Amino acid sequence: MSKLHRISRRHALWLGLGGLAGMTAIALGQHQANHQNYGLEDPTRDFSVMGQQSLGDRARAKGLFYGAALSPEQLSSDADFVRALLRECTMLVPENAMKWNRLAQEFDDYRFEPADALVAFARRHGLGIRGHTLIWHRSLPPAFAERVTSQTAEQAMQRHIRRVARHYAGALHSWDVVNEAVEPSHDRTDGLRVSPWLEYLGPDYIELAFHLAAEADPQARLVYNDYNLDYDTPVDEARRRAVLRLLERLRSRNVPVHALGIQAHLDGDEQHRLNPTQLRHFLREVANLGLKIIITELDVTDRRLPADIARRDRLVASAYEDYLSVVLDEPAVIGVLTWGLSDRYTWLTEFKPRRDRRAVRPLPLDVALQPKLAWNAIARAFDHAPSRS
Ligand code: G3I
Repeated sequence: MSKLHRISRRHALWLGLGGLAGMTAIALGQHQANHQNYGLEDPTRDFSVMGQQSLGDRARAKGLFYGAALSPEQLSSDADFVRALLRECTMLVPENAMKWNRLAQEFDDYRFEPADALVAFARRHGLGIRGHTLIWHRSLPPAFAERVTSQTAEQAMQRHIRRVARHYAGALHSWDVVNEAVEPSHDRTDGLRVSPWLEYLGPDYIELAFHLAAEADPQARLVYNDYNLDYDTPVDEARRRAVLRLLERLRSRNVPVHALGIQAHLDGDEQHRLNPTQLRHFLREVANLGLKIIITELDVTDRRLPADIARRDRLVASAYEDYLSVVLDEPAVIGVLTWGLSDRYTWLTEFKPRRDRRAVRPLPLDVALQPKLAWNAIARAFDHAPSRS
């Protein structure tokens, strides 16, 4: 059974036969009733890598970039972590430091120093840095609700984007201009999320944000960023359709949007829902709109995976390699960032803890900054990726 599984699973994935991979998962699930959701486990899978190059070097060799999210506190307090970042990354992104509620504790009392330190660090070391994120309903400053009405919302957006994007103009590789504006479960025909911006300004708030960002920083690549775009589930499919509708609309109206950011917060327990054919098709549809694609926040939660670390790490690594080997086949994909570099610092510790309270292991390096199989998996995906140049 395990040999059959190995052959059919791998062939299914590499040949893009997502349906077959799914069927294998179902068949295995029946035999492994206790842990049917990680029925794709393959104890003999090979994660070996050639050479000593870092992830960033391997990505660069293919005309791609690799980077990670970080915070100013990590930079100033953890020299070992900084060394690991410098070794592995060619691109950085502030996990939180450029969000409106971080830049301004109240509303318009901007304090740029912490985020500036990240930008200066990137510049000093010749790394790229992304901006994350200008307009996101979850990063509004505390006083937003009292200060902003439908009469003042346009001006508030204008002031915020001009203030921040001008401050960093010319220094950033790209900006996540609008984050998570789509939410099909909100039952609007356009698939948009009901948020303060939508309520105050209507659907055109999205294009307004992109025009303002383009005017304030004509050099940055402007990105629409969203999540749940990865798996063969009704929820993800609805979001893929809604995101495509949004991007088509923006492009047809000559809105300056240059790339789709796919967050890719993957779940090691949902990996049997990866449908390569479907995902490839979606990426092609995005590329056909003339857009680039960035994998902006990749990680793999292990919250429902087995406690055993060796097994858990293999499942997480499988998720990374299976996903990236599909995604990196699409020439419009220009780079990959993980949402953190080391398990030492990951939002998943707080947001998706394990029931057994064991430490989570979702990132390429462990808490001691040693590469895990997830690192090998990402390295292998870069090594096998077609060259961009
Ligand atoms: O720094 C304070 C700390 O002083 C305090 O003790 C603690 C109490 O909970 O809160 C700490 O701040 C938290 C911060 O994460 C650092 O852990 C904030 O409350 C919390 O809201 C913040 O969450 C961030 C979240 O976005 C909301 O902004 C996560 O770090 C960050 O990883 C997450 O990132 C998002 C992307 O921006 C968009 N895509 C999804 C992704 C994951 O949710």
